[in-house]
Amino acid sequence: MDLGTANSIVIYNGKIVVNEPSIVAYDRNNRKIIAVGKQAQMMEGRTDRNIETIRPLRGGVIADFEMAQQLIRQLIAKAGVGRSILPPSLRMVICIPSGITNVEERAVRESAEQAGAKEIRMIHEPMAAAIGADIDVLKPQGHMVVDIGGGTAEIAVISLGGIVCNNSIRIAGDVFNDNIVDYMKRQHNMVIGIRTAEEVKMKVGAAVSELAEPPEDFCTTGRDQLTGLPKQISVNYKEIAHALDKSIASIEQAILDTLAITPPELASDIYTTGIHLAGGGALLRGLDQRVKSKTKLDVHIVPEPLSAVARGTGKALKNFNTYQFLVR
Ligand SMILES: Nc1ncnc2c1ncn2[C@@H]1O[C@H](COP(=O)(O)OP(=O)(O)OP(=O)(O)O)[C@@H](O)[C@H]1O
Ligand SMILES: [Mg+2]
Repeated sequence: MDLGTANSIVIYNGKIVVNEPSIVAYDRNNRKIIAVGKQAQMMEGRTDRNIETIRPLRGGVIADFEMAQQLIRQLIAKAGVGRSILPPSLRMVICIPSGITNVEERAVRESAEQAGAKEIRMIHEPMAAAIGADIDVLKPQGHMVVDIGGGTAEIAVISLGGIVCNNSIRIAGDVFNDNIVDYMKRQHNMVIGIRTAEEVKMKVGAAVSELAEPPEDFCTTGRDQLTGLPKQISVNYKEIAHALDKSIASIEQAILDTLAITPPELASDIYTTGIHLAGGGALLRGLDQRVKSKTKLDVHIVPEPLSAVARGTGKALKNFNTYQFLVR
C-alpha cells in the first residue's frame, strides 16, 4: 500500500486493485465514515454543516490519526482482502514518507493490523520509487530519485539498498494548487477552489514559460472578488509557470542541496545515472527540462510516475524477508 497525501494505491497479488484519492468524508455528529476515496472527493467543498471531508495525511505526515486509520481500513476493505476472506498469513508492505515519526509509524502499523494484516513491513517512499523505476537499488551505484507528490518533494540518493542522503520539503502538488489560487486572486480578482486549481494545473500547468508543445488555453470558472458573481477567465500555461515559479525554485534548491552533501563517489555515479523524477509532480509540463538545465544532469521521468512508488512497494513485498531495508 502506498499511503499518499493525494492518492493511495493498493496492490494485491501484483495488481493495482485500489487507486483512490486519500480523502475521507464523515458525519461531524458521530464521526461515522460516510465515504472514502473518489466518492469523498466528489463531496469536497460541497458538504453541508453535518458532513466534513478531510485529507488525513497532510504535508507527508498524518494530520488526523483516527481518520488516517479509517482510511487504511477502508482501503484494505475496498481491495477485497477484508477480514472474512483474509488469508491467515496476509503480509503487507506499507510505504511511508521518510519524515514520519515513530508514533505515526506505529499508528499506521496498528491500523493495518486492525484491518487484518498479520506481518507488516514499512518501506520509505524514495526507496519504493527507485524500485518501482526498475533501478537495481542493491548495487553499489548511486542513483538520485526525486519524488514530487501532493504533500512533499522527497529527494534521495540511493546505493547498496540504503538511502545515503535525503532531503524532504513540504512543497509539492498541494502547494502548487495554493499558488494557482493565489495567482488567480491577485491577477484576475477571481476566487477559485482547490479542485478548480487542480484542474487548471492539469490542463495548463507548466514549470517553464517556453514549451515546445504548449497546451491550449483553459477556460476556468470562479467567483469575481469584487462583484461576487460567477465569472469565466481563460488562462494560459505561461501564467501558471509564473505562478509556480517560486515553489519550483525551492524544489530545485533542495535538489542542489542534496547533491552538495552527496559523497563524491556517488555524485560521480549520478553524473552518469542522472536524476529520476517520480510522483505526480513529475508530470508537470517542462519540469524535467527545468531540472535538467539547473543541474546540468540527465533527467528521466520514471515510467508511470503516479504509480511508481506503489509498484516498488509491491516488488518489495515479493522480497519480504530478503530486503534488509524493509523496516520491521
Ligand atoms: N499531469 C499532472 N501535472 C501536474 N501535477 C500532477 C499531474 N498529475 C498529477 N499531479 C499532481 O501530483 C500530485 C499527486 O501525486 P502522487 O500521487 O505521487 O502524490 P502522493 O503520493 O499522494 O503524495 P505524497 O507522496 O506527497 O504523500 C497531486 O498534487 C496532483 O495534482
Ligand atoms: Mg507519494
